[in-house]
Amino acid sequence: MIVRNEQQMEAIREAAQVAATVLDRMCMLVAPGLNTYDLDQSGRRFIEELGAESACYKYQVGSRIYPAYTCLSVNDEVVHGIGSIDRVLREGDVISVDVCTRYNGYIGDNCRTVAVGTVDPEVQWLLDITEESLYEGIKAARLGNRVGKISSSVQRVVENAGFSVIRDFVGHGVGKSLHEEPQIPNFGKPGNGPKLRENSVVCIEPMVNMGKYGVKMADDGWTALSADGSVSAHFEHTVIINRDGPEILSVPIGKEALALV
Ligand code: MF3
Ligand code: CO
Repeated sequence: MIVRNEQQMEAIREAAQVAATVLDRMCMLVAPGLNTYDLDQSGRRFIEELGAESACYKYQVGSRIYPAYTCLSVNDEVVHGIGSIDRVLREGDVISVDVCTRYNGYIGDNCRTVAVGTVDPEVQWLLDITEESLYEGIKAARLGNRVGKISSSVQRVVENAGFSVIRDFVGHGVGKSLHEEPQIPNFGKPGNGPKLRENSVVCIEPMVNMGKYGVKMADDGWTALSADGSVSAHFEHTVIINRDGPEILSVPIGKEALALV
């Protein structure tokens, strides 16, 4: 777990504010009739306007290169959906908008699942619980705790509601690279994992299926879907662990950072 100096913390804070601003602007565009290619292109423009770069465009895993600027995952898509002109949002859908940006050489990462118009109350509850689990996870991100305290806090909220946390994808440290040590699973025991360190920066990101937690891969090699076809939700913040508590860095430019002390 990497400990940051003041300058690095400031750079990550700015990168996270850029990512949050782009996420906000994209979420405001979500409406029935919009296709996810156009939404991704709007994301590309917002990122450019703020003088940043997408940290997922051309992101490489093995021989696969991610082709889009943001990750847009609809309904049963869990993560890493690729915007498509054929994917037109309809009333009752949900879409996870995941934005990671590089700015000043550092990365900020955040995600939110939003409803397209009015959704089924059970689906809205899934979104509310997933967001609540993120905040419970963030509250556990304090000195004296291990990573597993974050994991178990997220898992408890999700499973108390009867939903399932994804096992195949996890949160992560963030800095110059998008995925740094440590991994932050959304399941596990409080005593597991490394101790949290002062001035380290982590991305906490519960991914939750309404049904079972299994996932399958789409033919595009990137999009992960729930194996049982159930709706999935995803919320993420970039968080710094201060001496006196966690602070959410992924807040839009001009808004006050949220310190949970
Ligand atoms: N926020 C996503 C993550 O942490 C970004 C993935 S970039 C992609 O996994 F290229 F893998 F899609
Ligand atoms: Co992430």
